[in-house]
Amino acid sequence: MQDKPSNLPRTQPDGAALKSIIDVMLERRATMHFAPDPVPEEYLNAILSLAAQAPSGYNLQPWRFIVVRKEENKRRLQAVAFKQPKVVEAPVVIICLGMKEEWKERATEVFKEGAERGAGQTDAWQQTRDGAIGFITKALPMSVWVTRHTMIAVTSLMLIAEAYGYDTAPMEGFDPAGVKTEFGVPDEAEVVALVAIGRGVAPDKAYPGRFALDQIVYEEAYGEPWTQDT
Ligand SMILES: Cc1cc2nc3c(=O)[nH]c(=O)nc-3n(C[C@H](O)[C@H](O)[C@H](O)COP(=O)(O)O)c2cc1C
Repeated sequence: MQDKPSNLPRTQPDGAALKSIIDVMLERRATMHFAPDPVPEEYLNAILSLAAQAPSGYNLQPWRFIVVRKEENKRRLQAVAFKQPKVVEAPVVIICLGMKEEWKERATEVFKEGAERGAGQTDAWQQTRDGAIGFITKALPMSVWVTRHTMIAVTSLMLIAEAYGYDTAPMEGFDPAGVKTEFGVPDEAEVVALVAIGRGVAPDKAYPGRFALDQIVYEEAYGEPWTQDT
């Protein structure tokens, strides 16, 4: 594994300040159409590097990403993504995978290095590792577990791109078997999402609204109104 990435761009490509976290959350939209302008390598690297800092259970990081930029490969991806135009329009599309088996092979590296870095695990990191693998493999379907964690990285990726002034489009409209065949993805993988990245073309997609907090937040028990007057 590696240390925290350094030398990441601290401004948007035109020198403008990064968007604040509030603007990021309010301005991000699932973008329908993209301009062809490429995302500079430095920025794509920063977006992926920061997304890879996302948290995951036991730090097992089951996510993997395939960067698709070549025209012919975007066309192949579009063919297995319900012909969505943004797959070909956007300069970059990321295939986001959750590995249902491979993470176990990397668990030793995770727990050993975590212990060496003093990050919580004790000297008995092998036991912690074995306990974690046992817990995860019994607790829930593996597709659910890898999707839970991979989506944290995917969401981070979209928000980081927005902070750098780029637009994104998350997609669940694809045929996972087709994606696997076309891009050499092992059968054990869960194809969790596709994310297009680039500059959206006007007009921006309208804000579709969100539930009010009294529709989604409860206090102390399910269904109990959240009063906010503590
Ligand atoms: C995991 C996920 C998958 C999505 N899949 C698609 C898709 O395949 N095609 C599409 O046009 N929009 C897709 N969307 C976009 C949603 O429709 C959009 O995020 C939602 O309507 C809210 O709009 P907003 O993101 O602009 O706020 C997806 C969004 C998410 C989070």
